[in-house]
Amino acid sequence: MSSNLPYLYSFNYDHHHSDLCKLESRHLFNQEEKEKVLFSDVLVDPSISPFIKNRFEIISSADSYSALLITVKKKKIRVEGFNAEYIILHSDLADFAERQSMIKDVGYSIEGEPNFDSPTITYAICQYETHWYFGILIKPNTDWRNHKTKPYSFSNSLCVHIAKSLVSIASQGNKTTLLLDGCCGVGTVMLEGRFSDFQIEGCDINEKACNHTKENLKHYAYTAKVLCSDINDLDKVYGAVIIDLPYNLYSYSTDAITLKIIKAAARLTSRVVIVSISDIESIIKESRLKTIDSGTVKKRGKSNFARRIWVCERI
Ligand SMILES: C[S@@+](CC[C@H](N)C(=O)[O-])C[C@H]1O[C@@H](n2cnc3c(N)ncnc32)[C@H](O)[C@@H]1O
Repeated sequence: MSSNLPYLYSFNYDHHHSDLCKLESRHLFNQEEKEKVLFSDVLVDPSISPFIKNRFEIISSADSYSALLITVKKKKIRVEGFNAEYIILHSDLADFAERQSMIKDVGYSIEGEPNFDSPTITYAICQYETHWYFGILIKPNTDWRNHKTKPYSFSNSLCVHIAKSLVSIASQGNKTTLLLDGCCGVGTVMLEGRFSDFQIEGCDINEKACNHTKENLKHYAYTAKVLCSDINDLDKVYGAVIIDLPYNLYSYSTDAITLKIIKAAARLTSRVVIVSISDIESIIKESRLKTIDSGTVKKRGKSNFARRIWVCERI
């Protein structure tokens, strides 16, 4: 059966990020991607996610390729500088030559001069299960990958994929939500927030960490407020707070300190996204929060190191 929903999102991730991508998709779309594909009526900027490969805005669909081509011709599209692409989704068996031939058919069905290098618009076709789709392809800006070489980092900084996904999960894709990275370290999460124009502030008890965050933000010409403070001393309302808890590796921590930080976050917002390498379920229960969702991210190639992410709401 064909989907009547307007958007088809396709995803790309390594096996160790599968759980994180599904967690993110539950909070952006209210449903999980399946086989790296998701139909939705929710409009999401693909650049906010480390996993969304593209957003495909469906113009027409048909139960065969030839019927789809007729729908394209009927639209009598006339546009200068267009490009046409083929999206390969799970279960698509077309080989390279077949795909090239179909892209050519689509190109010849559109009036105007194509521009392959810097197109004004990219049309695409794809096949999913029993149906064929034609539409406009919106690709993400992937320059966030440059954050991997930020000037200041430390060995337990979050990887860019986790940091970026935390912003999506906390904000649920809403760029007007004021976010706080409550234990910002060198600002890994803040860089991802500012890259996608989210409103995000950072706070860390360690002055050196705050200075490194400021330098990292400056390096990419991002502006954001960085508060050198104990999160317990903040007094402001946020739409969501992200907490990457101290791991007791470089910064001293105990269950009592963890509980204090979580309680402080719960005082500032009704939505807290917490990252920890230890099981803090019982500590969350002691705070004013309840866990509404969670996921695990393993480190690539390291089966015994995993971070857990808890999405919590104030009781
Ligand atoms: C695991 S690190 C965060 C790393 C960060 N996400 C990054 O990728 O750079 C935890 C941070 O929490 C900070 N911290 C510890 N207790 C804090 C408190 N009470 N208020 C604010 N920050 C705190 C530490 O200084 C440390 O930088």
